[in-house]
Amino acid sequence: MNLSSLMPFLLSSFQSESELLKSIDKLSENFTIQRDQVSDYLADEKLVSAYTAFYLTTNYPKLRHIMQMLPHFIDRSEALEFIDVGSGPGTFAFALTDYFKGNPQTMIYGLETNPLMRRQANRIREGLYPHAPIKFLQGASEIPVKSSKRILLFTHSLNEMGNEKGLKYIKELNPDYVMLIEPGTKSFFEQFLVFREKLIRLEAEILYPCMGQGSCPMQGTQDWCHQYLKVKHELDVERLSQMAHKNRKWLPLTLALFKMHKSSRHNDQHGRIVRTYSSTKFSFEWDVCFLENGENKVNHFQAPFRSLNKADIKLYGDFLAGESIEFEIDKKLSDNQIRVKLKGLLVE
Ligand SMILES: C[S@@+](CC[C@H](N)C(=O)[O-])C[C@H]1O[C@@H](n2cnc3c(N)ncnc32)[C@H](O)[C@@H]1O
Repeated sequence: MNLSSLMPFLLSSFQSESELLKSIDKLSENFTIQRDQVSDYLADEKLVSAYTAFYLTTNYPKLRHIMQMLPHFIDRSEALEFIDVGSGPGTFAFALTDYFKGNPQTMIYGLETNPLMRRQANRIREGLYPHAPIKFLQGASEIPVKSSKRILLFTHSLNEMGNEKGLKYIKELNPDYVMLIEPGTKSFFEQFLVFREKLIRLEAEILYPCMGQGSCPMQGTQDWCHQYLKVKHELDVERLSQMAHKNRKWLPLTLALFKMHKSSRHNDQHGRIVRTYSSTKFSFEWDVCFLENGENKVNHFQAPFRSLNKADIKLYGDFLAGESIEFEIDKKLSDNQIRVKLKGLLVE
């Protein structure tokens, strides 16, 4: 999604680039400094337009990467229904529309309580996606009865609406999967741990990022589980983020996937990278979450290059937090340090 094709469909136009940059500044102050007044931007047409210009364009490319990172849970030949809760101007709803363009059985709903955001989303839909299977609705009661596999997404919205409202949507809409694309911050991690616990109590199974259903080994530590994406932007989007002095290439996020009806697929030779360090001359150095005796555990993994070919070394060398691996324990070096042999990418 590039900026120039989006600009004609913003609710409010900007006279100059500097006017847009000022609004982006105001927005990010709203998100970071004034967390208690976080929803103020929703009442201002100019700020909703600036949100769309900056955050829709820079978040939109995340979806493709995310789909590749998550365990395989979508069969493209079956009918699918996505409900993006707190869809805003349609950031992920439009990205889904493009991602599933070739699949005529996909329907996408954006659920959005804010009228300005809904108006903004509909303006883009009419201008850029006039024939796409996408609708923006105000409340859960407007969503038709489930007729296919239903995937509920919270996209930078659970952190705004809180767990209680999120869980209410889940109970009302009865999805098969619940996916979170939320900020990669420590404060959201605290919220996520509570949400995770509640969903597991509702008989959901967490498929990503945790390796098992037990408690999180990062709970109560200074660290927090989050992932990283390296994203390439359209040229005019890249320019805007440079002018706004915001790095939108390396995007931290909290990604999670729950299956709402349990199955059992966990394996103690599968691991999720939770932190990467610089490689030594001989090995990759990562903190990895994995299962030991049915419990989630984080250990430092040393993965020597010697058992890998050049192509694998290049592949693993680009890994960021959130990637999944298969491994075999070679040697326990200490209580929390293991030397492993990498067996491949984890395809779930
Ligand atoms: C930060 S925006 C995220 C928009 C979009 N999903 C994205 O990633 O760019 C959060 C959105 O959640 C919406 N929201 C907050 N509480 C909500 C609720 N209870 N139900 C539906 N939407 C809600 C807000 O109106 C806002 O548009």
